[in-house]
Amino acid sequence: MTEGAETTRATRLAVVVSGRGSNLQAILDAVASGALRAEVCVVASNQPDAPALDRARRAGVPTVVVDHREVRPRAAFDAALADALEAHRPDYVVLAGFMRVLGAPFVERFAGRLVNIHPSLLPAFPGLDTHRRALEAGVAEHGATVHFVTAELDGGPSIARARVPVHPDDDPDRLAARVLAREHVLLPTVLAWLVAGKVRLEHGRVTVDSHPAPLDI
Ligand code: GRF
Repeated sequence: MTEGAETTRATRLAVVVSGRGSNLQAILDAVASGALRAEVCVVASNQPDAPALDRARRAGVPTVVVDHREVRPRAAFDAALADALEAHRPDYVVLAGFMRVLGAPFVERFAGRLVNIHPSLLPAFPGLDTHRRALEAGVAEHGATVHFVTAELDGGPSIARARVPVHPDDDPDRLAARVLAREHVLLPTVLAWLVAGKVRLEHGRVTVDSHPAPLDI
């Protein structure tokens, strides 16, 4: 990298969403408050009516929709999404409630720059419906994980986790709300570490400030 403007520009985050966008909002709020020294350069959605897109528009962030029902097959969807993101020159791509599985070519294109938030303490409960499954398994603790994305579903190396207790009278909604509140702290925190250059991914192993990941926040 050369000296000058290029070295001082804000780290650019592309955020990929499918729905409500409360994690996106947590990122936007952290950027607005200065807690996260970055710029959200684009918000992309596979769902044209995702409420997350309104959150982006309200924050003045460019949006792009790549509708998985229109752009098929999956490889074409992945390529179109990757092209749309790359047009905004992101340093990191953040999957924040993105409900599609991305294939290996997409993942490889953004290798080491692609993170996801997942609502469980990975490696427990990859995939969908994590809160109900955690309750059925009778675990005492549940939570959320931010991890680098690999081609294995919810299987990439973890960076950090937020733990919550499971209460005897929990139902999936109550448990989800408790986890979500922590997600909104966890994701901006990990992004701030990434932006500050604290996170290293080497040979599939993650460290944060030289501490072996995942860290608990
Ligand atoms: C979050 O629980 C996230 O961990 C999961 O999907 C949910 C998205 O919520 N991947 P929101 O759209 O950020 O409100």
